[in-house]
Amino acid sequence: MKKSRILFAVVVLIAFLSSCKNESDNYIDPRGTDYAGSQSCIQCHQVQSESSFHNSHFKATSPATKENILGHFTNGSNTFVYDKDTKLVMEERNDSLYQILYKNGKEVEAHPFEVLFGTKHAQTSAFWQNHYTFELPISYYKSLNSWATSPGYSASKVNFERKIDKECYGCHSSNIASRYITTSSDSINFLNQEVEDFMNPKTLIYGIDCERCHGPAKEHVQKHLKFPDLKTAQNITSFKKLTRQQKIDACALCHSGNDKLKVKSRFEYKPGDDLLEYFRGVPGSNDSIHYDVHGNQLGLLAQSKCFKKSATMDCMTCHNPHENASQNLASYSKICMSCHKGIQHNATTLKTMPANLLAQNCVECHMPKQDSKAIRFQQSNSKTMSSYSLRTHKMAIYPNNKK
Ligand code: HEC
Ligand code: HEC
Ligand code: HEC
Ligand code: HEC
Ligand code: HEC
Ligand code: HEC
Ligand code: HEC
Repeated sequence: MKKSRILFAVVVLIAFLSSCKNESDNYIDPRGTDYAGSQSCIQCHQVQSESSFHNSHFKATSPATKENILGHFTNGSNTFVYDKDTKLVMEERNDSLYQILYKNGKEVEAHPFEVLFGTKHAQTSAFWQNHYTFELPISYYKSLNSWATSPGYSASKVNFERKIDKECYGCHSSNIASRYITTSSDSINFLNQEVEDFMNPKTLIYGIDCERCHGPAKEHVQKHLKFPDLKTAQNITSFKKLTRQQKIDACALCHSGNDKLKVKSRFEYKPGDDLLEYFRGVPGSNDSIHYDVHGNQLGLLAQSKCFKKSATMDCMTCHNPHENASQNLASYSKICMSCHKGIQHNATTLKTMPANLLAQNCVECHMPKQDSKAIRFQQSNSKTMSSYSLRTHKMAIYPNNKK
């Protein structure tokens, strides 16, 4: 009885595997055979796929194609001047884009744009060399609509030697293997040994994809392809069943700053896991800590009364994880009002803004934009530092609460 069932299952499986060979191609995911890849999700999850494929998470890293690269390559707006003898020029050559260093008019060094980080406010780029990626010294900033120094780079000295290490990819991509396993023929060196930071470009999965957040989904895909009438999700972690802390952890993995990792990498985390097993300490609610607005939304949110005094608030209260943050600030006011019905501001506040406008601008006053202390940059030929500014997630009453 049992044997024949197993046999039957095997036959079905073989039939199934051979039937889907043609349509669902021979995709092999660098993370392993448990993963199906985001292309396989579209057929059943069109809504989530269509919005996700164009959002910032999917483009947190991307290949440096002309469509993806922001910033200017045309004369007049493609040059960064270090001093009268030294300049860096963004140029297109043979269909590739480069940062090229000139000294006294002579080309000294040229490095291609290969991996891009970011799209929303800024874009930093990297090039590959000997299994490492290195940051290009000049980045593009939307607030300036121009090139300026990459964060932490000097405006007087050119530097092509800073590595973009695995940590950056841990928050900006879905996979990159630093494990280098050689073939048995030259097994002396690295067989099954880990070489930190030694990165294999073939294993890079650009952006934050479906399975980075949802965990491996190959079995889920196979099950539903096989049983198309099944309406409840199989073999996948359901966020609906997670606790508030687990939901927060799924975002805090990357949105709570650069806390010290206990494990080898952020890639090991799966939804439902306890983040405390990954980090030494996760942002608490110590009011005296001034977290940076860049990269630490949870640290700031956790300090606000809204978060502390409500039992349900998490990131999904205000964000759809498949979409970008809404640009429409009035839409957030509706969310604020869902908990702050009938809020009465005092006469002094009402003098600064009429009640009808106030009702649409909660965010403007209670989540003001603040300058990042971590990310600053300099423009060509300029001594002044510009700051990267983001809205704080610490909802509170601010002294100069006015428009
Ligand atoms: C052959 C169809 C099919 C494919 C392919 C498929 N799914 Fe699903 N998935 C379903 C069905 C059916 C459900 C249950 C109904 C629903 O929630 O839409 C579901 C539900 C889900 C849920 C919600 C789980 C819950 O209970 O909250 C997630 C998350 C999910 N799928 C992720 C994925 C990802 C990621 C991929 C691609 C790697 C994928 N699915 C591919 C059919 C599919
Ligand atoms: C693997 C790391 C990672 C995880 C997990 C993650 N994020 Fe992000 N998120 C990022 C990075 C990196 C960016 C910046 C992307 C960019 O602009 O290049 C980002 C951007 C965002 C943005 C701004 C997008 C925009 O353009 O407006 C929101 C909102 C956001 N994340 C919310 C969430 C929420 C909610 C969760 C949990 C469900 C989550 N993130 C999980 C790394 C992550
Ligand atoms: C702990 C996770 C984390 C690490 C590590 C990290 N980032 Fe980010 N990064 C984010 C998040 C989250 C955002 C977007 C929201 C913000 O700025 O708070 C972001 C934004 C950016 C942006 C701007 C993106 C945009 O669309 O405007 C760039 C560029 C960037 N990161 C590059 C890097 C580089 C290069 C490294 C490594 C030196 C790095 N990041 C390391 C989480 C991280
Ligand atoms: C940044 C993390 C993140 C990424 C990337 C992501 N999801 Fe989700 N997804 C979530 C979270 C969190 C929920 C639960 C939402 C909630 O509870 O409101 C969710 C819910 C879902 C659901 C249940 C129905 C729904 O919309 O709530 C499906 C189906 C799903 N995701 C599929 C996908 C697919 C397919 C992709 C890739 C195209 C994807 N997700 C990418 C975080 C993510
Ligand atoms: C899930 C419910 C919820 C949501 C959504 C919410 N809040 Fe709150 N908020 C609270 C609770 C609960 C308190 C604490 C009230 C108390 O102490 O009596 C609070 C307190 C506040 C305070 C007083 C803070 C202080 O330090 O005294 C401000 C201001 C505030 N919220 C603004 C906002 C804004 C703006 C939004 C939308 C961006 C928002 N809230 C969304 C639940 C929420
Ligand atoms: C009470 C509502 C609320 C909650 C809860 C909330 N956010 Fe936001 N978030 C906002 C608003 C408002 C913006 C600003 C949108 C804008 O300016 O376009 C924003 C913007 C962002 C951005 C983009 C920053 C930028 O300027 O590019 C990221 C990333 C982000 N949120 C992540 C998170 C994460 C992660 C959580 C959970 C820890 C979270 N948010 C919880 C309201 C919220
Ligand atoms: C023009 C700036 C401004 C706007 C817009 C604004 N607030 Fe306020 N809010 C203040 C100031 C200032 C205070 C403290 C003085 C007061 O109560 O009027 C305050 C106080 C609060 C408090 C604390 C009240 C208490 O009794 O402790 C809450 C909650 C609050 N606001 C929520 C909101 C919500 C929700 C919105 C959007 C519907 C909003 N605010 C829009 C400036 C603003």
